[in-house]
Amino acid sequence: MRRVVCHGARLSLRDVTPADVAALHAVYGDPRATQHMPFRPLTLDEVSRLVEEAVDAAAAEPRLLYVLAVVDSERHHVVGVARLHIEAEHPHSAEIGFGLHPDQWGRGVGTDLVRLLLSFGFKQLGLHRLWGARSPANLPAQLAMLTAGMVEEGRVRHHLRTPDGWRGSIVHSALEDEWTER
Ligand SMILES: CC(C)(COP(=O)(O)OP(=O)(O)OC[C@H]1O[C@@H](n2cnc3c(N)ncnc32)[C@H](O)[C@@H]1OP(=O)(O)O)[C@@H](O)C(=O)NCCC(=O)NCCS
Repeated sequence: MRRVVCHGARLSLRDVTPADVAALHAVYGDPRATQHMPFRPLTLDEVSRLVEEAVDAAAAEPRLLYVLAVVDSERHHVVGVARLHIEAEHPHSAEIGFGLHPDQWGRGVGTDLVRLLLSFGFKQLGLHRLWGARSPANLPAQLAMLTAGMVEEGRVRHHLRTPDGWRGSIVHSALEDEWTER
């Protein structure tokens, strides 16, 4: 298995390990961070299972799922989690997802994270299309993706089933050739 390491100016990405469960729970267990996600805040046990599944997925051939710890390059703390899921039927294309601990918000870290994920997907994985789906109400995610160069494609109706019912999504995408030109 190839270990993932991807460095940016203030963040880096690496594969999650069982040692990251508490740091990931600080994100996925926080109702502020899951507000726009299609699930309620996760318990420590649920995050632990998610990490086990991520470790298994990292060993799969071909590898389709990357669950990555987002690490502050200066302090070496895990500050968030990123996901990249290659579509088995469309292996040139992957969905990205990302979340930061709320104490990181509002300083441009989210925009840097989207930029780093695009760089990882296009340069390291050789993908052609990266896309992300956000809640229509998620303004910070909208601005982070737009500023990082992911254009809005439109609305997918009833895209997800959440504990509160069906939720539509706004889809953003970036294409490798456009991204290279930027
Ligand atoms: C989405 C997320 C990663 C953004 O992280 P962040 O570090 O706050 O993002 P940035 O600081 O780069 O801000 C991005 C933009 O949103 C704006 N913004 C940030 N927080 C905001 C808020 N609460 N209200 C309005 N605008 C906000 C910033 O001003 C910036 O706009 P600009 O590009 O015009 O300057 C973060 O909010 C998060 O982790 N949310 C929970 C998980 C989530 O929703 N993930 C996205 C799933 S698609």
